[in-house]
Amino acid sequence: MTEAAAHTEDASKPLRELIASRLATVLAIAPLGVWTVWHLWDNLNSWRGGEAWGLAVTGGSQLTHAIGAVVVLVPLVLHTIWGIVRVMRTRPNLGAYPYYANLKYLVQRLTALGLLGFLGAHLWLAAIKPRLTEGHPEEFADLAKQMHHHMPTLGVYLLGTLAVAYHLANGVQTASIALGLVTTRDGLKRLDKVSLVLFVIFAAMAWGAIGGLYRAGT
Ligand code: HEM
Repeated sequence: MTEAAAHTEDASKPLRELIASRLATVLAIAPLGVWTVWHLWDNLNSWRGGEAWGLAVTGGSQLTHAIGAVVVLVPLVLHTIWGIVRVMRTRPNLGAYPYYANLKYLVQRLTALGLLGFLGAHLWLAAIKPRLTEGHPEEFADLAKQMHHHMPTLGVYLLGTLAVAYHLANGVQTASIALGLVTTRDGLKRLDKVSLVLFVIFAAMAWGAIGGLYRAGT
């Protein structure tokens, strides 16, 4: 089944399920997707040193952090629950129909499972643990040192952010189809290219930020 077919199938579902699915799609784009790109952009400050990175990434009042956490974490939890249900209900059929669209469908689900682990570890290690155990947010010098001298950390960040870049870029494509924004054959072809370009941009931003941390950790 192609991604477009999978989404049009939704039309036969009960209205409540359809509304929940559309809501999940919208929340995945905004605030979740928008915040993700913003977060990558902020992290590019790693090239400008610890002070600039701290101001952009971990700075701000307790209140802005609390509001930010609710605005991002609630949609993330809702999207994750919805995503796990989708993964369990649907079966990729790349073996029977080896089409490019089916490959992307499979990779979207594999990256989703990868993200479960990566985001769980990232949230705990970078956002929650330092605040709980040390009473302050993650420090630039600590993260940069880990990135440079601890290969598993570097590997996990490189792969985890690559999964984020793919999942979000391909998600923009599937969401545009699900929301009926693109319907024509030409439009779908163009959307495919847009999604590829977005993937390259998101991956470059993520790996660029990691590069800045790696350099600072020497
Ligand atoms: C940074 C975090 C994440 C972002 C920005 C994100 C974004 C997106 C977007 C924009 C879509 C397209 C929505 C649509 O086609 O209706 C999507 C689809 C999906 N997401 Fe996520 N996601 C994230 C994390 C997760 C996690 C942790 C899971 C856990 C299982 C997950 C599971 C899924 C699944 C299964 C789909 C495909 C749904 C389908 O087409 O049937 N996502 N995601």
